[in-house]
Amino acid sequence: MSPGVQGLKPSFTLVPMEKTAKQKTNYGAVVEDLDLESITESDVKALSDAIWTHKVVVVKNQQHLQPIKQWELVTRFDPDAPLVHSHGDIKTFNEKGGILSRGRDVLSVPNAENVRIIGKGYLGDDHFGIKARSITKPLSHDWHDLPLSVEEFNKGHTRFQRWHIDAPLYARDPAWFTTLRCFKRPTAPNVTVHWDDGSGTKMDCEPGLTAFFSNVQTYGLMTEEEKRIADHSWVEYAPHPYQWMGDCRSNPTGLGVVSQGKEKALEDLQPYEEKDIKRYPMVWVNPVTGERAFMVHGICVRRAFFRSGPDQEPRVVDDVAEIRSWLKGIQERVLKPEYIMLPKVRDGDIVMWANYQMFHTAVDYPDYMGSRAMHQANIGASSGPVGPMPIPTIV
Ligand SMILES: [Fe+2]
Repeated sequence: MSPGVQGLKPSFTLVPMEKTAKQKTNYGAVVEDLDLESITESDVKALSDAIWTHKVVVVKNQQHLQPIKQWELVTRFDPDAPLVHSHGDIKTFNEKGGILSRGRDVLSVPNAENVRIIGKGYLGDDHFGIKARSITKPLSHDWHDLPLSVEEFNKGHTRFQRWHIDAPLYARDPAWFTTLRCFKRPTAPNVTVHWDDGSGTKMDCEPGLTAFFSNVQTYGLMTEEEKRIADHSWVEYAPHPYQWMGDCRSNPTGLGVVSQGKEKALEDLQPYEEKDIKRYPMVWVNPVTGERAFMVHGICVRRAFFRSGPDQEPRVVDDVAEIRSWLKGIQERVLKPEYIMLPKVRDGDIVMWANYQMFHTAVDYPDYMGSRAMHQANIGASSGPVGPMPIPTIV
């Protein structure tokens, strides 16, 4: 599925991402000596391998990069992919994006439609042809079931927004990688991310960063029995999943939704095609390292098919509360400060991650800290995730 050229010698240097002694993260690398404006084909392949291997890679100092070059790089990572952003063109995304697009401005960069501008506040007098525009968006935590007061938020009490993979989970396969270029963000003062789940867990970080955890590590925290089930099981995502769950509310940690029966009935969704409904294995195998990642995007799952061996008849579960409860018990093990990393991207840096291995989320901050402008690009993959075992195509 991937170019798969492990062992290729890059012309650039990969340095492990800094971490504290307390952190148990086993991913992350930084590159300081690469110019993405004129990257060679062999370096594209080496960078692709580096992302699969290190999961999160920050390429420093790309201030000069033309936006279209970011899109070109994305297409070169997956040359057989259809030439469109994984969430479709901007019109489709704004019309059908459900909870992903509702209430916020999602802009494209002029002459680079598949590069999306995300962030908030004033973009600048002329941002690649976009004149004097401010981006507005709802507060990131406003879809959490347990409210966070504006007063607390303005004091720097924040939360993880929505742990996710960048994945339409309908019609197109998720991008192998996402690239996120930082134009500007505030760097001070620190905010404090609270779990607000009764555990008292919290962690400090700079404002405007993206948080990550590795689902290879999640898999590593599962019991042998859980691994056996996950290796042989699969999930079915709802058609137009972000419309389907668009009225649901999240746990305060941003991981998973609360089961309140707010999922839409299938007949209330926009028309959909049966063939476009996605069924993916619960475990996705890294094509370069062979590592297994527990990759279930619980907020969009409508049905799960559990089995413990290749010849077993699956137990079909369509009670989303039961599915979510099982997922929560597993996925929350990695939701601890020591497994979470927020790479400190500076203006001009690009962070790229293995979307088939990681969960990520935004972390909002009070507006008075300053505006944030990022360019995001990825491409619906030419081939989807592969599990450790084949799953039946029709059940
Ligand atoms: Fe994302």
